[in-house]
Amino acid sequence: MAQIHADIRVMMKAAERAARSLIRDFGEIENLQVSQKGPGDFVSAADRRAEELIFDELKKARPSFGFLMEESGAVEGSENARFIIDPLDGTSNFLHGLPHWAISIGLEKNGEIVGGVIHDPIKNEMFHAYKNSGAFSGRSRLRVSGRSDLMQSAIATGAPRRSKESQAQFMKEYSAMSAIAPGLRRFGAAALDMAYVAAGRYEAFWERDLKSWDIAAGIIIVKEAGGLVIDLDNKHTGPLETGNVLASNAALHQPIRDALTA
Ligand code: IPD
Ligand code: CA
Ligand code: CA
Repeated sequence: MAQIHADIRVMMKAAERAARSLIRDFGEIENLQVSQKGPGDFVSAADRRAEELIFDELKKARPSFGFLMEESGAVEGSENARFIIDPLDGTSNFLHGLPHWAISIGLEKNGEIVGGVIHDPIKNEMFHAYKNSGAFSGRSRLRVSGRSDLMQSAIATGAPRRSKESQAQFMKEYSAMSAIAPGLRRFGAAALDMAYVAAGRYEAFWERDLKSWDIAAGIIIVKEAGGLVIDLDNKHTGPLETGNVLASNAALHQPIRDALTA
């Protein structure tokens, strides 16, 4: 493996720092499940704490870069570069004590996503990629799957919560997909869904109404693993702007796209 890009090393360090804090908090969740109030407020605090740790670490290392963070919003930088951060993706899983959540940090330079880190501390997986340098999990190179049979595929999705219309559209897409690909999954952490496409565990992932911090890191990780990432409806916009994403291996890209947009 070639040298890990210096920006990626800094992002990995920040993700590891947040992970230590989140793991400690995740250990408390079981106790809170049984309380009347439930763990809701506790998890929002855990989320904010993780974001602060990431921000502090990255700000120290790259003082001229800007930030876009799920919890605290945008911070301008003096360079045309910014980190796009989801300190805890899969909050609902975390809240229910389900061990499937991650920290996601993307890096955008001159309007293009060039780097990404997705860290799942429970399974001890650190997915990362830098433009033209390949995608990795730890030191192992990632490649999207070569499977071309929809019947044998694992395809992940997520359901929108925004409006009745978007839910109806989701049900339509879900039923179109399940007719041709019975192996649909809904794991509840979009960043990990993207990482798993890159790792060849899923053949594809689609979801609408996502935010840029859900997918920024995943976009470059899937691309560097040889996959395709597009906006579901429009060839000329990127999924980062619309939040409607389809990430897949090359073999199944067109049939899945056709089924979803028919
Ligand atoms: C959510 C997760 C989930 C997706 C939601 C996202 P959060 O992010 O990625 O899988 O279905 O649309 O909002 O709230 O856990 O950071
Ligand atoms: Ca998220
Ligand atoms: Ca989040």
